[in-house]
Amino acid sequence: MSSAYLDIQSIGIVGGGAMGRGIAQIAILSGHFVYLYDNNAEAVAAADAALRTTLATLVEKGKLDAKASEVALGRLKLCNDLADLRGCELIIEAIIERLDVKQALFGQLEKIVAGDCILASNTSSLSITAIAAACAQPERVVGFHFFNPVPLMKVVEVIDGLRSDSAAGDALMALTRKMGHTPVRARDMPGFIVNHAGRAMNTEGLRIAQEGVATFAEIDAIMRDQAGFRMGPFELMDLTGLDVSQPVMESIYHQFYEEARYRPSPIAAVRLAGGLLGRKSGEGFYLYRDGKKVEPE
Ligand code: NAI
Repeated sequence: MSSAYLDIQSIGIVGGGAMGRGIAQIAILSGHFVYLYDNNAEAVAAADAALRTTLATLVEKGKLDAKASEVALGRLKLCNDLADLRGCELIIEAIIERLDVKQALFGQLEKIVAGDCILASNTSSLSITAIAAACAQPERVVGFHFFNPVPLMKVVEVIDGLRSDSAAGDALMALTRKMGHTPVRARDMPGFIVNHAGRAMNTEGLRIAQEGVATFAEIDAIMRDQAGFRMGPFELMDLTGLDVSQPVMESIYHQFYEEARYRPSPIAAVRLAGGLLGRKSGEGFYLYRDGKKVEPE
């Protein structure tokens, strides 16, 4: 066990998309330095702009002190070279959900960072053990699974791969609490806890719609207003985006050797193929105008 795991001050985030920028927000607001890198320079600039807008809104609403916002933004370093993350004690990867791309990145990171730097993945569906297999030091690789939108979704899964050092996971449990979130420890199985249980709601909702039992809006209303979920499955898939959600459903299905209860639906596949991704494309299971859902008649 390395005691260096216990004192995380600087966090490198790879991937400046929806998840990377959300994690960056809670990290800088909880006193950490963030080195944000994306292989698309425009994504880094977009993440920076989005963070500034979000913090300015929080200040306007009186939820954040103006000085605290300025100090937090001063802790954000925008990087156009992966090597700029070399001094971090923790790297959180939030890039495209593809095992080969994540493995290549982790291999590259190991050549850049110190030997006691923890390498964490925000993957929703890939095996932490498989990602770690690309590393010379697989014991430092841990799953660190945040949910979207990160500042509001308080639960975070910390996942031990088969070869993870439990001290690395312990450090992420402590860090999560420091960030004001609630960590839950999970073992490395497809979907971990939330996507294992939660996927069933999406795939079952899709099956009900496919069988013509009820509309998307009717199924959502039942799950939201009767079952007590914050959103129904179609509202949630529209928020996440089918470009993210459908590959996760397919990956979990295949990892469980085509177990029928995880089978994804052609209703979602055809929407993805047609670019009806959800909120981000203006149309998914619902229509969106100016970022707001157009209520079905
Ligand atoms: P996104 O598509 O919004 O952002 C991904 C970013 O990674 C993009 O800016 C892209 O330019 C960058 N990128 C891709 N390949 C890269 C590479 N090789 N090196 C550096 N940057 C690279 O994706 P999102 O939604 O932020 O998801 C990221 C990860 O988080 C995925 O693994 C996803 O499964 C996981 N996740 C997503 C959730 C969601 O609801 N969106 C929830 C929980 C986890």
